[in-house]
Amino acid sequence: IPVEVFDLVIFGGTGDLALRKLLPALFRRDAVGQIPPQARIIALALDHQTLEEYRAQVADALQTHLRAVEAQAETLARFLERLEYHAVDLMSPASFQSLATILDTCPERIRIYYLAVAPALFSAISHGLAGAGLAGNNARLVLEKPLGHDHASAALLNAQVGEVFDEHAIYRIDHYLGKETVQNLMALRFANALFEPVWNAQCIDHVQITAAESLGVGSRGGYYDTAGAIRDMVQNHLLQLLCLIAIEPPYRFEADAVRDEKLKVLRSLRPLSGRKVLDHTVRGQYLASSSSPAYIQEVGNPASMTESYVALKVEIDSWRWSGVPFYLRTGKRLKAQSAEIAVVFKQPSHLMFGDLPTPILPNVLTMRLQPDEGLRLHIMTKEPGPGGFRLHDIPLDMAFAEGQNEDWRMPDAYERLLMDVVRGNQTLFMRGDEVEAAWQWIDPIIEAWQLSGRKPDGYDPGTSGPISAIEMMARDGRRWREIES
Ligand code: BG6
Repeated sequence: IPVEVFDLVIFGGTGDLALRKLLPALFRRDAVGQIPPQARIIALALDHQTLEEYRAQVADALQTHLRAVEAQAETLARFLERLEYHAVDLMSPASFQSLATILDTCPERIRIYYLAVAPALFSAISHGLAGAGLAGNNARLVLEKPLGHDHASAALLNAQVGEVFDEHAIYRIDHYLGKETVQNLMALRFANALFEPVWNAQCIDHVQITAAESLGVGSRGGYYDTAGAIRDMVQNHLLQLLCLIAIEPPYRFEADAVRDEKLKVLRSLRPLSGRKVLDHTVRGQYLASSSSPAYIQEVGNPASMTESYVALKVEIDSWRWSGVPFYLRTGKRLKAQSAEIAVVFKQPSHLMFGDLPTPILPNVLTMRLQPDEGLRLHIMTKEPGPGGFRLHDIPLDMAFAEGQNEDWRMPDAYERLLMDVVRGNQTLFMRGDEVEAAWQWIDPIIEAWQLSGRKPDGYDPGTSGPISAIEMMARDGRRWREIES
């Protein structure tokens, strides 16, 4: 179904985010006919280049990031035709006036401003838009992380853009929320009668959330070394996943109903500070291997104390989750590219089978975010045959790609999220208070690390992270799940 006609202005139109994620996602939505023919995509950036040069740059990027079958000449040409390009100086009011001249030719349209630029520019751009009369009721502002580097800076950012845009016009992207499995998590919990009755401390032993990456920091070392894994992945993506596992059922699948419940989870995270931080967290930094440089070499900072891996034990102070730890881990240069949520259930309350040749394993529900998105429920069953009574663990498997033809591909998170901005649906976007609550919980952890003066533990590339993370789990009598590709 096509969406309403819109004008999308991309600030940072020549940047990595625009070329690698936003334009390919828009292209794909266009290719299936979702974008109305009159919609305009107006890219702005500092570089002085002609529209033809910009279109050639985008064509190159699309060829790189799309599959050959998708980048058909005709669809590509049609998409490139939509693009406009203007060189702008964001500090000059004249640039915003020129933008107004372009946009005011279609005053009734929804206007989306996607700030694919450094957060230091968010305030100036918002005020520049307002100064040129471009922040009216039909305007929507899209922001990307990093949304602050601590609570104070996040609150300041919220206040600065809040001077211009109402909360209902601000779309803070966390691309994990656009992933199919994450949306399926809500379907699983709230569209089935089966899971909700067991989704609590009576039946669940613990939860593991893993986002493992096999690549290193690459060319993003400058940013990453000031952030580390906790700011880059935990404050946003992993805590958002935790929220969706832990929320109480919202009264309706509607933006504020869902976000109110997520906020309650964030506020009930048990604070970690001081000595407790050191027992409940592990930081790691990858070492060199014969084929890859160490983290400190890659970021060009031999004294770097930044973590490229972090594991945390998180507890939630609520009726539902009392006593159920959530173990979170994420890192770069690990053994595989793999992200999943695993809900590990308790053993049955009475094991009546006596001595069995194989142990009875707990039920585990895994939700794979990538690759091979899908759900898997491990259950114990009897091994077929007339012999003795043996139990084994069998997965009930559901791959989301199953039943689709071979040309089918999992939609990228940005396709979903961009179209939700056009539809005006904020359900999968973070509200300002959520971002702040997450930082409020994260800040004392970082502070305790800094005060301790401890370096992150080294780990070998291609492994599942530092030994200390395994020890943290072992202290609780538990084990991390294998990181599988
Ligand atoms: C980004 C982080 O937000 O998420 C990156 O800044 C990380 O460091 C990326 O690599 C992971 O996203 P995905 O979708 O590949 O899991």
